[in-house]
Amino acid sequence: MEKQKCEGCNGKDPKMQEILETYKQDKSNLIQILNEVQEYYGYVPEKAQLAISEYLDIPMAEIYGVVTFYSRFTLKPKGKYHIAVCLGTACFVKGSEQVLERAKQRLGIDVGETTKDGKFSLEATRCIGACGLAPVFTVNDEVYGKATVKMMDEIIDKIMENPE
Ligand code: FES
Repeated sequence: MEKQKCEGCNGKDPKMQEILETYKQDKSNLIQILNEVQEYYGYVPEKAQLAISEYLDIPMAEIYGVVTFYSRFTLKPKGKYHIAVCLGTACFVKGSEQVLERAKQRLGIDVGETTKDGKFSLEATRCIGACGLAPVFTVNDEVYGKATVKMMDEIIDKIMENPE
């Protein structure tokens, strides 16, 4: 799905309003609302956090804590190609950190950042449940196992060559 811009989604954005009104004003709905916001905008904009804070009467700091705790929520828009390198134990001992370092170097961004052209974003994850293939990284929904620095180079090259 094409991600939407959050233009003033402090209650004036009809989609934000629609998401909120689907739920009762009950704090236990926080995660579900955040899921919908993340899915729709591709991240959780600050204005959306504010709208949720007002709607559910939850302090902004608490919402921020939840958003930063779960890796599925992001505070910035993800790139068109979102690279996530697993730093779980099995992957780490098999060298995933070097693979992550290579991606940082090639893309000129740090973990949690998106390239200026919006093409790539980078994330370090906990175990994604594919330890048998360690070390592992994903690009959007595709899993790459037995990853090496060379493999990361090749994937990045391939995406960069793609004019889109
Ligand atoms: S530790 Fe990386 S997939 Fe489990």
